[in-house]
Amino acid sequence: MAENFFQQTLQSPKNAFDFSLRPPLFSEFQGQARVRERLELMVEAAKQRGDVLEHVLLIGPPGLGKTTLAFILANAMGSNIRSTSGPMIEKAGDLAGILTNLERGDILFIDEIHRLQASIEEYLYPAIEDFRLDIIIDQGPNARSVRLNLPKFTLVGATTRAGLISSPLRSRFGMTNYLNYYGVQELTQIVERSAGLIQVEINVEGAAEIATRSRGTPRIANNLLRWVRDYAQVRGSGKIDKETADRALNMLDIDDDGLDEMDKRILEALVVRFQGGPVGISSLAVAVGEDAGSVEEVNEPYLIQMGYIKRTPQGRVAMPKSYQKLGLAAPRDGQAELF
Ligand SMILES: Nc1ncnc2c1ncn2[C@@H]1O[C@H](COP(=O)(O)OP(=O)(O)O)[C@@H](O)[C@H]1O
Ligand SMILES: [Mg+2]
Repeated sequence: MAENFFQQTLQSPKNAFDFSLRPPLFSEFQGQARVRERLELMVEAAKQRGDVLEHVLLIGPPGLGKTTLAFILANAMGSNIRSTSGPMIEKAGDLAGILTNLERGDILFIDEIHRLQASIEEYLYPAIEDFRLDIIIDQGPNARSVRLNLPKFTLVGATTRAGLISSPLRSRFGMTNYLNYYGVQELTQIVERSAGLIQVEINVEGAAEIATRSRGTPRIANNLLRWVRDYAQVRGSGKIDKETADRALNMLDIDDDGLDEMDKRILEALVVRFQGGPVGISSLAVAVGEDAGSVEEVNEPYLIQMGYIKRTPQGRVAMPKSYQKLGLAAPRDGQAELF
């Protein structure tokens, strides 16, 4: 089992990039300029010293490029990357299996690192701090602890939920990077690059239309691009321009601001059912029939960023922009202005 598990997660960056729209190099990674600059500098410094990269934590909503950056780091360092995720590591033995198979300079990528069990985290601390692992062999009176030395490696952790990372874990990363939603211009370039890779003709207005409606998220931009390509192929000339993109995206009920069905249901529940709030995230999630974690992780950050919702200690509150979106008048001295 352990062996199988490990084989599944063992990948070289080169293979993993095949058939993917993932940029393999920093130079092809659009946006997140500050994060990119810091990581590139770190790589350069480590390479100059012939050293191993510091542990890196990447935080941000889904689809913004955390996994991509982990693979780019491995490529840039010329090292292997072994990829797993918090929930996949169920037992201390799973972690020991992964760690003892690492070679010097390898990158261990743990996605959803906030979902590591507390007991596993305890094992991880000495491994990433001092590159040693204390494992217990046998049970009962024969139980004894054996210390294993590990090669120096780099942990790259990714999480969508900064708040759920324990502070002892967080403090063990040499660098923490927050990824932000992308601007329309950056996303337009990402769409143009991806269109080249999937070999569909697109003009800049078409790419910009898709970019505008992608919720600031490259993964969504790539998904929408594939859909618009299908639409253009069946209902159009095969080429993507602004009008084709617009018609294709309307068919998915994605509005001009990129809000999808779920976003709009959330705004409607907040404004109409809860009279603009404040309302707790779990009540809001129940009202729209979605899992609270997913609302908090996927929809809410973007709605907050775009000024539709505000998070207050009492709960979520609708901003005037939410009322506008729903074609309603904002309450004159309502909650919206109060917070
Ligand atoms: N900066 C970027 N430039 C180009 N494409 C990107 C960028 N960031 C993400 N992508 C694309 O978006 C997709 C999702 O990125 P990913 O790294 O899987 O996000 P995350 O791990 O944060 O959820 C990738 O397949 C990649 O094609
Ligand atoms: Mg990922």
